[in-house]
Amino acid sequence: MKILLLGSGGREHALAWKISQSPLLGKLFIAPGNAGTSQFGDNVPLSVNDFAGIRKFVLETGIDMLVVGPEDPLVKGIHDFFLADNELKKIPVIGPTAAAARLEGSKDFAKQFMVRHGIPTAAYETFDPSTLKEGLEFIRSLKPPYVLKADGLAAGKGVVICQSEEEALDELTAMLKDAKFGQASARVVVEEFLSGIECSCFVITDGNSYLVLPEAKDYKKIGEGDTGPNTGGMGSVSPVSFADEAFLKKVEERILKPTVEGLKNDGLDYTGFIFAGLMNVKGDPFVIEYNCRLGDPETESVIPRIKNDLIELLVAVAERKLDIQTIQIDPHVCATVMLVSRGYPDAYEKGKTISGEKKVEGSLVFHAGTAIKQGELITNGGRVIAVTSFGKSMHEALALTYSNAEKIEFEGRYYRKDIGFDL
Ligand code: AMP
Ligand code: GLY
Repeated sequence: MKILLLGSGGREHALAWKISQSPLLGKLFIAPGNAGTSQFGDNVPLSVNDFAGIRKFVLETGIDMLVVGPEDPLVKGIHDFFLADNELKKIPVIGPTAAAARLEGSKDFAKQFMVRHGIPTAAYETFDPSTLKEGLEFIRSLKPPYVLKADGLAAGKGVVICQSEEEALDELTAMLKDAKFGQASARVVVEEFLSGIECSCFVITDGNSYLVLPEAKDYKKIGEGDTGPNTGGMGSVSPVSFADEAFLKKVEERILKPTVEGLKNDGLDYTGFIFAGLMNVKGDPFVIEYNCRLGDPETESVIPRIKNDLIELLVAVAERKLDIQTIQIDPHVCATVMLVSRGYPDAYEKGKTISGEKKVEGSLVFHAGTAIKQGELITNGGRVIAVTSFGKSMHEALALTYSNAEKIEFEGRYYRKDIGFDL
């Protein structure tokens, strides 16, 4: 089988690593990929949003399946693009259609979906520029802190948590009146603040049945102790100690199952991964957000724990036969730490030489922002390299990850030394 995987982050390196272990693989292509993915297949210099370029490549190369890593092409309708094309429509796409990807692409859509299907989430109201006045009044009726969410995709920056009423009023005005996040903040969800500890849960679905994948915890803040600005993610662990059997049962019954059924009842065809970002509020799960894809760096800790042949699962999704599959999970703990460039998530430099990667022993190395220039491995992004290890305990997995992370060097390297601190 020939597979084209879209994306270029640590998630895609982890997926490429796993896909390449399957005897069902003929050849893997990754567009655009990174220096890490090129160890498992051919990188193709195409942007994930270049649908015409992808079409040409898929047809010329005889690709049998498209696996979409990031949300952007899904929200922009890559799956619909394939379905609408006579030559492409027979090629299965792992990732939802645009209508279903609104679970991630529109916060307001996701909130309405959850309310409609009785899925626990924070109370909310949605405002647009014509209802700014009502929005400001709504904020005045709430207690701090305030949670404001730009409706559309805003490169992970669209959620703002304000500690004071004044700040929240200014923020809502900036989003709606001054289009702070452009078209993404043409509508804004204002919601109740949920207090608790977060956890990421995943299913793979063929639109009918689903399999629950291992849960993970992601560390989004740049600074130790969860301080400073949000990033794409600085590390992850799986499993999550507080997500015991009783909690995970609630997650499946109250959230994952009703989500898949809700999509089906709403006539939204979904093939691929669903990511539910949850808050554990005193033992009860609430949905903070949905994503229409796997998380990064959650994937780096989740995928290594899946013992199944991944292609077999993806084919089952494509053939709508996921009901006859079962998931096999490695009980060991996986812990991932992300090495990032100095300055990230703000401005940072690229092109720094990376050394020491070959000295890593006993851990997996997943590239995120890397490239090869004149035969040399260099940094090519804010998040550069993820190091993942297995252990009998989180402590053991982290100790191995940190000892190997230290060996990988580049100018301005930074990583959080406290991943898992709250578990
Ligand atoms: P996102 O950019 O959608 O991943 O959201 C960023 C972060 O905002 C989440 O990971 C949570 O930590 C936080 N957050 C979002 N919604 C809420 C809420 N209703 N209550 C508390 N924290 C929230
Ligand atoms: N790690 C969070 C995300 O992928 O959105």
